[in-house]
Amino acid sequence: MIVAIDGPAGAGKSTVARGVAGALGFGYLDSGAMYRCVALASLEDPARSAAEHAGRLEISLGERVLLDGRDVTHAIRSPTVSAQASLVAADPAVRSALVARQRALLAGGDWVAEGRDIGTVVAPQAAVKVFLEASDADRAARRAHELGADPAEVLPELRARDTRDRGREHSPLAAAPDAVVIDTSDLDAGEVVERIVALVRAADSARGR
Ligand code: CDP
Repeated sequence: MIVAIDGPAGAGKSTVARGVAGALGFGYLDSGAMYRCVALASLEDPARSAAEHAGRLEISLGERVLLDGRDVTHAIRSPTVSAQASLVAADPAVRSALVARQRALLAGGDWVAEGRDIGTVVAPQAAVKVFLEASDADRAARRAHELGADPAEVLPELRARDTRDRGREHSPLAAAPDAVVIDTSDLDAGEVVERIVALVRAADSARGR
């Protein structure tokens, strides 16, 4: 079974997706980490196009993120890489290369996958689709806390990225028509995890598992 969790930056996708995967014993796919790896590579080696990087790079996702064998777990979280990720993610050639990798991973077993287009493009067949939202202030506060930064500085970066992600021509950030929208502003991560686990159990019983 696939559980798709999409939404804007700072809505709590990673924490919640990890929590759901842990609670259910499912695999966890952070599709954003792939776009971030392509962004980092294209900043470090601008002589190649982002699409070339996307087709060529060895990306290993897990507790640590490895890019061609190098540990980039922290490097891919910098504000510069975040902004670049949203730029390279608008390139359809980058997207098709990464979506192919994501689909290959999701082809076997049970997964919780998070991103912007999991429920709409990568896995429209997902049994459970969730779209997480939160107020701008809450999203900025969460991201600032993670980065040890000032929310007032983080907010414009999040807004710029969301505007680009929502407005791009290819696979824009959007809730799938059949996604359950959850506003996480007034919920803690545990409550959101519980709601999603309940949706998975309901989908399971509906399928007679
Ligand atoms: O963690 P956060 O929500 O800030 O970002 P992320 O999920 O790591 O994604 C970084 C960027 O990659 C996003 O701003 C999108 O531009 C892009 N992305 C995408 O286009 N499609 C995905 N499935 C995942 C990420």
